[in-house]
Amino acid sequence: YPSNSQVEDNSGLRKENCRAKGGAPGFKVAILGAAGGIGQPLALLMKINPLVSVLHLYDVVNTPGVTADIGHMDTGAVVRGFLGQAQLESALSGMDLVIIPAGVPRKPGMTRDDLFNINAGIVRTLCEGIARSCPRAIVNLISNPVNSTVPIAAEVFKKAGTYDPKRLLGVTTLDVVRANTFVAEVLGLDPREVNVPVVGGHSGVTILPLLSQVKPPSSFTQQEIEYLTDRIQNGGTEVVEAKAGAGSATLSMAYAAVKFADACLRGLRGDAGVVECAFVDSKVTELPFFASKVQLGRNGAEEVYQLGPLNEYERVGLEKAKKELAASIQKGISFVRK
Ligand code: NAD
Ligand code: LMR
Repeated sequence: YPSNSQVEDNSGLRKENCRAKGGAPGFKVAILGAAGGIGQPLALLMKINPLVSVLHLYDVVNTPGVTADIGHMDTGAVVRGFLGQAQLESALSGMDLVIIPAGVPRKPGMTRDDLFNINAGIVRTLCEGIARSCPRAIVNLISNPVNSTVPIAAEVFKKAGTYDPKRLLGVTTLDVVRANTFVAEVLGLDPREVNVPVVGGHSGVTILPLLSQVKPPSSFTQQEIEYLTDRIQNGGTEVVEAKAGAGSATLSMAYAAVKFADACLRGLRGDAGVVECAFVDSKVTELPFFASKVQLGRNGAEEVYQLGPLNEYERVGLEKAKKELAASIQKGISFVRK
C-alpha cells in the first residue's frame, strides 16, 4: 500500500526496516495524546494492527515509558515516541493517518462543551502541526467536544491552505458501538450481527440513532425506542458517572477508535465497500458538518450518504439535534476566526 511520504528515521533502523517486520508494507500512523486514558490502549491496539508499519506516539507527558512498553510487543509495527511540542513536527512527518485523543475528559456534572476552553486550544495547536508536517494525512479527531473541535480543525486547515474536507473525520464510532450493544441486548441478538446508523453529532440530543434503519431489520415498541434513544444519547454520561471523577470512556473508546482507524486504513489501501458513520463536512443537511454514513477510500471520506427515510420520532429528533449542532459548530468556527 503506498505511503504518503518517508518518515525521517532517527531510530537507528535501516530505512527498509520502516515497514512492518516480516516485510509486509503498511501505513504510518501517529497518535497525539498517546499517553492518556484512550491513548494507551489505542496505541496497544494499533501496534497489533497488521495494516500499521510505523506507529508514532506523541504526548506532552510520559511517552518514553509508554513507547518502551508498547515497543516490546512482538508485532509488526515499528514504534517511536515523541515528547512535547518541540517534537511534534518529527512525530507528524510522513504520517498517513493521525488519530487525536489529546485533551481533558469530563467529570460528573460536566457537559462535553465544558471541555471547550481547554481542548479547543490543544486541537488548534495540533492541527497547525498537521498542516505543516503532514497536510495530506487522514485525521481522526476524538477530542471533545467533537461537534466543535472538527470545525476548529477545518478552520485551521483552511487558514493554512491545506483543507481537504474528505480527510478530516470526527470519530463518532463509539455511539454506533454503544447503539449496537444496547439494541442487541433488547433484541436478544449477538451485537456483532447488529448495525445501527447513528447520525447528527457527538453530544446529547445531537446523537441521533436511526432505529428505523437497524440491520437486521427490526421493529421496536415506542417504549423500547425511547429507552434505547435515551441510553445511546447518554452512554458517555453513564460511563462518566460510573467512573465517579476518574474520567470518561477510555477502553470502549480505544476499541471504537481502532475500529474506525482500521476502516480508514482499509479505505486507504483501496478496499471497496468500507462504510462507517463519522462527523464530516457535509451537505446532507443545511449545516456545514454532520455525522452520517460515509464511504472510506483512498482519499478519506469519498462519499457522504444521505440519511434515508426517517420516521416521525426521528424527524423530531433531527430538528432538536440540528439546533444544538448549529451552535456548537459556530462556536468552533468563531474560536479560530476571532
Ligand atoms: P486523558 O486525560 O486520560 O488523556 C489525554 C491525554 O492528552 C493526556 O495524556 C495528556 O497529556 C494529553 N495532552 C494534553 N494536552 C496535549 C497536547 N497539547 N498535545 C498532546 N497531548 C496532550 O483523557 P482521555 O480519557 O484519554 O480523553 C481524551 C479526550 O477524548 C477527551 O477530550 C475526551 O472527552 C475525549 N473522548 C472522546 C470520545 C469520542 O467518542 N469522540 C470518547 C471518549 C473520550
Ligand atoms: C463518550 O461518549 O464517552 C465521550 O464523548 C466522553 C464523554 O465525555 O462522554
